[in-house]
Amino acid sequence: MVEIKEGFSKLEHRYLFQEIARKVADFQKESPGTDIIRMGIGDVTLPLVPAVIRAMHAAVEDMASKESFHGYGPEQGYDWLREAIVRGDYAPRGIDVSADEIFISDGAKSDLGNILDLFSRNNSVGITNPVYPVYVDTNVIDGREIHFIDCSAANGFTGDIPSRPLDLVYLCYPNNPTGAVITREKLEKWVAYARDCGALILYDSAYEAYIRDPEIPHSIYEIPGAKDCALEFRSFSKTAGFTGIRCGYTVIPGGLMGLNALWNRRQGCKFNGASYISQRGALAVYTPEGRAQIQENIDYYLGNAAILREGLERAGLEASGGENAPYVWARTPEGADDWAFFDLLLRKAGIVVTPGSGFGTAGRGFFRLTAFADRARTKEAMERLVALCAG
Ligand code: MLT
Repeated sequence: MVEIKEGFSKLEHRYLFQEIARKVADFQKESPGTDIIRMGIGDVTLPLVPAVIRAMHAAVEDMASKESFHGYGPEQGYDWLREAIVRGDYAPRGIDVSADEIFISDGAKSDLGNILDLFSRNNSVGITNPVYPVYVDTNVIDGREIHFIDCSAANGFTGDIPSRPLDLVYLCYPNNPTGAVITREKLEKWVAYARDCGALILYDSAYEAYIRDPEIPHSIYEIPGAKDCALEFRSFSKTAGFTGIRCGYTVIPGGLMGLNALWNRRQGCKFNGASYISQRGALAVYTPEGRAQIQENIDYYLGNAAILREGLERAGLEASGGENAPYVWARTPEGADDWAFFDLLLRKAGIVVTPGSGFGTAGRGFFRLTAFADRARTKEAMERLVALCAG
């Protein structure tokens, strides 16, 4: 008789963003005339930049002739992209990462889930709370023991270093969902902790392109010793608008617990590489033209984040984040339940947000807004919010 993995029975019925989409769809059926502004899931709205579009068009043309056609690519990604990442993302920060430590994939979300193939279910897992739900769900499916590390305004949403040893620790900075960043000093403490107790840090830096403060580290490998205790996950989704294209990468240092060879083996048997066309598009991100163009989009989204912060302040709501990240984290008015406030915002103002408790118990009484909407819609949403809170 077929037995289903027990962990599935321990998950919430739906993944957070599926649950939100369902609630919004139900409301739209009830009230088809409502003009809805979506600031729930962090999905980009600006089109791909011209440099990327041109590169992808050229890649499609490559596929049209026998001489330049590409079939299966290397499972680890094409060397030209791996090398461009080294030159573009790591070398300028003085970080020693080599191309064979970089594995291209169809995005950070898949890698963050798939990486667990390498680890025993006996490993204990440390997860900050509130958190991107993928870390929790993927470990619940496997049946690992999870220790939550509470984050709050009091610890700058970076969590206190655990007093007990853990095996796997997830960190995400700039943070999803709170938009908080981690200082170099705090990250040094996490690296020291991991080296001390033999933990492995799974560092999600999908939002590093949004960092504006020059003191804030973009990569965990800026911290000496991190290559002995950390993997890093990155994505072109928010950096270059690839949410619908799919391309990301994971850095697995050569000398770290034999994981590089194991991941290579895992990818060889379960993955056939990200598409040639996506990778050609990603390569264009590293051209001077591509860089300048994506920077304009990032500035636009950070401009939206500033509008969100200002609107929340006018509405009298406490907010943080959005300065070095595309997410703003806000307290619900008068301690309202966050799912109740989600419903109120949807029904009375036509705004979709993400309720804080969807990211964990420490998110109760908060909600998250994304800066990825259109500029005019962002302003409109804040006018509606201010009016709702005043009324
Ligand atoms: C989010 O809204 O938290 C993210 O867009 C989800 C993701 O990147 O998978």
